[in-house]
Amino acid sequence: MRIAVFAGDGIGPEVTREAVRVLKALNLPGLELVEGDVGGAAWRKHGHPLPPQTLEIARSAGAILFGAVGDFECDRLERHLRPEQAILGLRKELGLFANLRPAKMFAGMEDTSALRPEVAGAIDLLIIRELNGDVYFGEKGIRTLPDGRRQGWDMMSYAEDEVRRIAHVGFKAAQGRRGLLCSVDKANVLETSQLWRDVVIEVSAEYPDVTLSHMYVDNAAMQLVRNPGQFDVIVTGNLFGDILSDQASMCVGSIGLLASAALAETSFGLYEPIHGSAPDIAGKGLANPMATILSAAMLLRHSFGAEAPAARIEAAVAKALADGIRGGDLGGSHSTSAIGDAVLARL
Ligand code: IPM
Ligand code: MG
Repeated sequence: MRIAVFAGDGIGPEVTREAVRVLKALNLPGLELVEGDVGGAAWRKHGHPLPPQTLEIARSAGAILFGAVGDFECDRLERHLRPEQAILGLRKELGLFANLRPAKMFAGMEDTSALRPEVAGAIDLLIIRELNGDVYFGEKGIRTLPDGRRQGWDMMSYAEDEVRRIAHVGFKAAQGRRGLLCSVDKANVLETSQLWRDVVIEVSAEYPDVTLSHMYVDNAAMQLVRNPGQFDVIVTGNLFGDILSDQASMCVGSIGLLASAALAETSFGLYEPIHGSAPDIAGKGLANPMATILSAAMLLRHSFGAEAPAARIEAAVAKALADGIRGGDLGGSHSTSAIGDAVLARL
């Protein structure tokens, strides 16, 4: 059970530290943790946000636990040197195409949602976001037009095989849940989305037990706050999934609670909180490590088939929340390490 630990920037190291404490406390046979540099931290040390030695560590492991990347000081660097390239590079290089972002209301936490408690209480959904394509990885640039105006451009595209493989992940996930799959696109405007929709419909023939629906992304954003309980599994592209998953987190209560998995076709995966590096609160013990701790649970489940310890972690986090342990993100005053202590005590 070799796990690469890439803590990264900002609050990344402090939230990752708590997740590592939890992993160590489980006494898992064969557990081995190897650290590597990513993001702005790696750029300072090695001149690149994703240096070759980090990729090598990733390839030698069965899974990656990832903190966060992003650093104000690096915002003016050329794009290929920016911290975000570490996570984008890992996703692409390692074929991590399927991003699972579950959003479920924790018992007793309805009051912390941005939505009315009776609306928020029904949230139990899974966003499946494609991670290797879309406008994220298309050709892009800033060019000067013949008339002297500058123009920024980013090419959005999806090939049918890319849509097909993420669609299968969506249908299979729905089979294991309530049997509802909602494909989110913008087919009324974008050709990329039209192909997306056509391919998802083709794939649906193989899953007669799943009820497929389609929603335009603007409507999906609205429905997520109007009636999030209607969603079971959402499958969508890279950009729409990025936006909708941040939105879903506030419906649950805090972006500090949502974990994610980025999976390859094998059992290999990268696990990270969906939040960013929050440099404004870094190093102050204000970050909520629960999203990273829950990501470690997803890691054990998806990459190592270790369901029992994964469920133990999730139960300990749920119990800590039920007992009133709250970080600043939830209006409480527990520090990062105090939250880690509370989860450990309940393990
Ligand atoms: C996420 C993040 C990343 C993304 C950034 C840091 C590149 O927002 O994982 O949601 O846009 O995918
Ligand atoms: Mg995001």
